[in-house]
Amino acid sequence: MLTAYDYPSAILSEEAGIDVILVGDSLGNVVLGYDTTIPVTLEDMIYHTKAVMRGAKQTFVVTDMPFMTYGIGREATMRNAARLMQEGGAQALKLEGGSEIADDVSALVQAGIPVMGHIGLTPQSVHQLGGFRVQGKLDREAAKLMEDAKALEKAGAFAIVLELVTEPLAEAISKELSIPTIGIGAGRGCDGQVLVYHDLIQYSSPYYEKKMVKTYTNVGESIRNAIKSYVDEVKTKAFPAEEHAFGVLNADKQEQVT
Ligand code: KIV
Ligand code: NA
Repeated sequence: MLTAYDYPSAILSEEAGIDVILVGDSLGNVVLGYDTTIPVTLEDMIYHTKAVMRGAKQTFVVTDMPFMTYGIGREATMRNAARLMQEGGAQALKLEGGSEIADDVSALVQAGIPVMGHIGLTPQSVHQLGGFRVQGKLDREAAKLMEDAKALEKAGAFAIVLELVTEPLAEAISKELSIPTIGIGAGRGCDGQVLVYHDLIQYSSPYYEKKMVKTYTNVGESIRNAIKSYVDEVKTKAFPAEEHAFGVLNADKQEQVT
């Protein structure tokens, strides 16, 4: 699984053979420049999901329910989920949290919406968790996460993201559950893996130096160099050159731009 937030990232992910595209609320960080995912709105998620759906014609697309759009009463939760599905075009929704949202998960699943869980370091609760730190190091933390995973499975979730939890705990949860686990910073024992698009390709993300991320290329550098060359060439009048310009001789032939 890989995140995507717009038309080109969706096309490239699909062409590369990604199984599941996640329109993550991490778009708040890597696309919109916020420090957390908390400011991300339902409108933001609908807007970006629509763009991704236009690029991902064949790939399963999951969209995050953003902060405070679920767990706020059944009717409001259902209405917000419906908008992400109907207006955004999402094919499944992801919610952060464990047993405390199991009833919401169950209601969404009963309404016909595939739901992905997300436990461990849940960025929407960063202020409650006291920062971005590894979860499940203490025995009582680990027991609670195992309990949450089971509650989500029982509620009908089809998969669970495990974020920033210890490798032994992620492995134990993966063995205990019959639904797949998808890890990020959760070690080698998960059934699948997820990364943030901008981290994987070093597309000006502030996070790709994190231990859990592996970068596979540095597009930020090539984009910056390309833009520098453009700036230089315009200033030195190397661009546009004769081949980029249109003459008058062929004007009556409706010269093609391409
Ligand atoms: O928003 C996101 O990108 C996520 C993944 C890191 C799982 O929730
Ligand atoms: Na997210």
